[in-house]
Amino acid sequence: MPRSDATPYVPDTNSLRALRQAAQGCRGCPLHEPAIQVVFGEGPRKAALMLVGEMPGDREDRAGAVFVGPAGRELDRALEQAGISRSDAYITNAVKHFKFHERGKRRIHDTPKKSEVDACFPWLAAELRLVRPRVLVILGATAGKALLGSSFRLTASRGREIESDLAPYVTATIHPAAVLRAPDDAGREAERRAFASDLAAVAKRFS
Ligand code: URA
Ligand code: SF4
Repeated sequence: MPRSDATPYVPDTNSLRALRQAAQGCRGCPLHEPAIQVVFGEGPRKAALMLVGEMPGDREDRAGAVFVGPAGRELDRALEQAGISRSDAYITNAVKHFKFHERGKRRIHDTPKKSEVDACFPWLAAELRLVRPRVLVILGATAGKALLGSSFRLTASRGREIESDLAPYVTATIHPAAVLRAPDDAGREAERRAFASDLAAVAKRFS
């Protein structure tokens, strides 16, 4: 089997629309097979802010849209608290197809492998090349490793400026799904506050 790689599917174009269209046909890794559809990034081409998550979830795979499920609700809430309008941001994921296993009728999220993250990277690289955000926010470890390599550690980089050529200002915070994994209400509230406060600090960078 050839090595997984999206490169042959990524057109040389300056059009975000053409890029997104071409992604529908990506067969760059095995993840396209069981998923319903590709979930490409969304937002204005001239967005000053780009947010990068991990991979679409069950709801996103059904809707064909990024961050529309429970993690998306957490993201929306934190963005609102930070005074950032979601429609001003370009929001995407490190991996564009949902990876899961079935448990009865439910489709349970599987963390993508490094080979899948690497295979999908050409799409993210193309989005970065076209949008050229002033501020790039990494949401969680998968996006961090995709963009900065396997030495990325969220605990070391969270809320800090990260030295990188990817954008003038690069930083990282938790993935919004981490809020949902908190063991109790108090923990959830604490995660929510910290997440919103990370994004509020980001808002100061581009407003
Ligand atoms: N989690 C992600 O990383 N991205 C989505 O679009 C939804 C959930
Ligand atoms: Fe292509 Fe990425 Fe989907 Fe794999 S996950 S098939 S590389 S779009």
